[in-house]
Amino acid sequence: MQITKTTTVSGAAAPPRLLPNGSGFVRLKQHVPIARGGRRLVYAHPYIDQLVLKVPRPEARYENHAGLPFWRRHFRRFKHYNDSVREAVEHVAAYAATERLPPFMQRFYGFLETDMGLASVSKAERGRDGNYAPNLRQLVQAGKFDTEARAAFAEFCEALMASNVVVGDLRMENLVYSYDAQNDKMKFVIIDGAGDKNGIKLCSLSNLYNRLSKQKRIHALERQLAIALGDPL
Ligand SMILES: Nc1ncnc2c1ncn2[C@@H]1O[C@H](COP(=O)(O)OP(=O)(O)OP(=O)(O)O)[C@@H](O)[C@H]1O
Ligand SMILES: [Mg+2]
Repeated sequence: MQITKTTTVSGAAAPPRLLPNGSGFVRLKQHVPIARGGRRLVYAHPYIDQLVLKVPRPEARYENHAGLPFWRRHFRRFKHYNDSVREAVEHVAAYAATERLPPFMQRFYGFLETDMGLASVSKAERGRDGNYAPNLRQLVQAGKFDTEARAAFAEFCEALMASNVVVGDLRMENLVYSYDAQNDKMKFVIIDGAGDKNGIKLCSLSNLYNRLSKQKRIHALERQLAIALGDPL
């Protein structure tokens, strides 16, 4: 961690600066992303190993969606930052429910200005080996969806159902298999797709609707997983 502490002439310690250049503005263009999603590029934070930064893909930046239905037009305000806004709101809602975040949610630390636009700042999820955690599809493709992963997946589904967290996009690419050092075990973490995607926020408004919606999404995810594993459906 490169946060620097400077000393003033009088000897009193100055507050730590956010970044070594002191500007709080991060340059990402010169770096290679660690991963690419459909809409965002994921970069390692250039100074802080424990963080990743997500910015909109340049080609996925906002176009004028003139044909959108009226209930979707509200989200035009956030343009290509819509996913990050939804993520931030769900983070607060999950925290408000129990005054702590469920272990299966990606830690979100706010926003940072970069030369690729506004980045959302999240905890870098890593495996036991210290490398970035693979997503569920990568894990299956590497032939590493073993008994431990199967148990972690079952635990994830159970914990998601037991929480009031809303998910709008539960896909194999949106879950990573990460090492939980505190409890010395592997777990699945939702790194994208949390939050209500409905124009009218039915999942947020009704617990019952939210439970039914999550059940449906978990079944769809299990089907995706079975196909990826080549298991009979
Ligand atoms: N916090 C994280 N730690 C480690 N790897 C991550 C993290 N967040 C994302 N990734 C990796 O980056 C990939 C893309 O991230 P993410 O799903 O957030 O992008 P996206 O563009 O919003 O996705 P989508 O295609 O669903 O729109 C993930 O599949 C995962 O492999
Ligand atoms: Mg994604």
